[in-house]
Amino acid sequence: MPLRVRLTLWYGTALAIVLMVFSVLLYAMTARNLRDAVDQSLEETATAAVRSLEERGFLPLINEEELLSQFPELTRIDKFFQIFSPSGTISIRSPNIKQHEVPLSRTALDTAFAGQSIFESAKYPNEPPLRLISMPIMYRGNLLYIVQVGTSMESVGETLHRFMILLVVAIPIALTVSLAGGWFLAGRALRPVDKITLAAQRIAAGDLSQRLSMPAAHDEIGRLAATFNNMIGRLDASFSQIRQFSSDASHELRTPLTVMKGETDLVLRRPRPVEDYKSVLESNLEEIDRMSRIVDELLFLSRADMGEVTLESFPVGMESLVEDVHRRAAQLGQDRNIEVVLGTVMPAVVQGDDLRLRELLLNLVENAMKYSHQGGKVEISLLNDGREARLSVSDHGIGIAPADHKRIFQRFFRTDVARAHTKKGTGLGLAICAWIADLHKGRIEVKSDLGQGSTFTVVLPLAHSAA
Ligand SMILES: Nc1ncnc2c1ncn2[C@@H]1O[C@H](COP(=O)(O)OP(=O)(O)O)[C@@H](O)[C@H]1O
Ligand SMILES: [Mg+2]
Repeated sequence: MPLRVRLTLWYGTALAIVLMVFSVLLYAMTARNLRDAVDQSLEETATAAVRSLEERGFLPLINEEELLSQFPELTRIDKFFQIFSPSGTISIRSPNIKQHEVPLSRTALDTAFAGQSIFESAKYPNEPPLRLISMPIMYRGNLLYIVQVGTSMESVGETLHRFMILLVVAIPIALTVSLAGGWFLAGRALRPVDKITLAAQRIAAGDLSQRLSMPAAHDEIGRLAATFNNMIGRLDASFSQIRQFSSDASHELRTPLTVMKGETDLVLRRPRPVEDYKSVLESNLEEIDRMSRIVDELLFLSRADMGEVTLESFPVGMESLVEDVHRRAAQLGQDRNIEVVLGTVMPAVVQGDDLRLRELLLNLVENAMKYSHQGGKVEISLLNDGREARLSVSDHGIGIAPADHKRIFQRFFRTDVARAHTKKGTGLGLAICAWIADLHKGRIEVKSDLGQGSTFTVVLPLAHSAA
């Protein structure tokens, strides 16, 4: 059942119940109040009659005309009176009782003997019901007379009947109007949900550029729409990132394959001296090395993405790590005529994974050497400011334009200058470095400009301050 129908039904049922209960209570209270008013006026009349009889010294013979002239209200059409003797027989009665006798009931007589007044209702066929009060007149503890005043309940009955009709007509009308209003409002409130559904269907059909155009209301629907847009935005971004990544990856792998295929084709075209084959195979080996590096690093990154690479967490003495890497790099540098030196090295202990931190530093030093000019100089230093360890690698090489400082950490991104400088490189090293620094709650800062050399600084929290 659609939500709109359900909401309207719930609302209608609740309203119907409330209206019913309300009308029943209202009707009951009105009926009671009307009867109380009748009772009160009966009692006032009876009391006045009794007092007047007492003032006249309970003359046993009361003349009808006398009584009527004394109490003009008794002649009014809606009230009649009777006076009974203690035996229950009528001594006198007003002329407006015409149709039939209204005898004194047994209960009324008993109550009168007890000195109490009593209200009673009486009903005769084909006539409106009557309301009666029977009031005793006592003299020295003895019952002298019983005064009974009665009235027809016809007008009360009519009033109640009209009221009932009003309720019976008004309630369904009120209910219908409210249901229509509820239906309209529910439809209005739910319309944005339909819009969201339609947009979600279009998006599910593959159009991730779709967004919900919603007024920026801060209600439930507004928040839903905002959350939805946000989610689609993130999906869109990560899908296009994946697309970009796969196209970059295939491109990076295809280039060496094309080179290898071209060279191999060429050399196989006709018989050649052994030297030629050798040089093609050597060049192929270089490309194969590069490709297997790309594949290794890709594999590592995708395992890292899936959370499959775990880091150890031990205190790592950065000082000795720096010295180790420096030793290795200095050896590599000798072959390429690049000097790797140590700057200031302060002791610092970082909480983390020794092997990964070593890999991080080695990557940075390799970059520095790779993007240095012949005879260049690379400096490694380690500073400790009491809160953080600052591990820096600087070179005087080709440098990086400030616009590229962010992008070099993206997978496969290599600056044009770098591509021109050397074919070696995968564009994945800094992505791995950033991942390692991130997992150590650290960051990598870059200071560089084109042709000015570069300084990469890894900032890591010290072991005791790392939570
Ligand atoms: N020391 C450096 N000097 C100049 N450019 C650098 C340096 N380190 C990194 N880069 C730039 O950042 C890019 C990404 O580096 P990296 O991810 O390590 O890839 P790769 O070293 O395989 O080229 C490099 O291609 C280069 O353009
Ligand atoms: Mg690198």
